[in-house]
Amino acid sequence: MKKILVVMGSPRKGGNTDLLVRKLAEGAASKGAQVDTIFLADLNIRECDGCHVCWKGKSCCKRDDMLGLYQKISESDAIVFGTPVYWFGPTAIMKAFIDRFVYFNCPENRVKIKGKNAATIIPFEDDDLDTARPLVELFEKSFDYLEMRLVGSVVAGGVGEKGDILKKPDRLNEAYELGKRLAD
Ligand SMILES: Cc1cc2nc3c(=O)[nH]c(=O)nc-3n(C[C@H](O)[C@H](O)[C@H](O)COP(=O)(O)O)c2cc1C
Repeated sequence: MKKILVVMGSPRKGGNTDLLVRKLAEGAASKGAQVDTIFLADLNIRECDGCHVCWKGKSCCKRDDMLGLYQKISESDAIVFGTPVYWFGPTAIMKAFIDRFVYFNCPENRVKIKGKNAATIIPFEDDDLDTARPLVELFEKSFDYLEMRLVGSVVAGGVGEKGDILKKPDRLNEAYELGKRLAD
């Protein structure tokens, strides 16, 4: 049974990211995966300040909720990063979460993330796909760098208001199918 960690990075519960990651989770569960969803906005995740004690076998100097998440990340078979486009990038909470992946950037910890599957869910208001390009590239380059494997992405433009994604059944279905693929 595959363990999938869904990281919901929009502060708007019931919004477009939330609805898409729920669909993905449904798809994954339909294939027998165990899905654990975390809401970053409910957690306290501070910024990385680059002290690098995590590279010296010590735990992060920021005594916050990320400490528990390192274990969840390590134990998962796949991680889903869900974030809307905010100013051509991720939400601030998702960026803080990604920054803390510095922990995995030393040989001792790299083995905990190397080869792990990843997927992204990216809704945004604009109709122009170019708007999401910097964020798509941020994820692609970061996964490449960390030696993770991007299995798929749902990049859904034209959704501004909460729930707009419900008018786009094709995108929801894409998320469902991506969930199934992650569970395989
Ligand atoms: C602070 C902020 C910045 C945003 N920046 C962009 C942007 O640069 N481009 C865009 O197309 N939409 C932008 N949006 C719109 C959101 O991407 C859009 O409303 C999305 O559907 C929100 O997803 P959610 O419902 O999961 O929160 C922004 C919204 C907020 C609140």
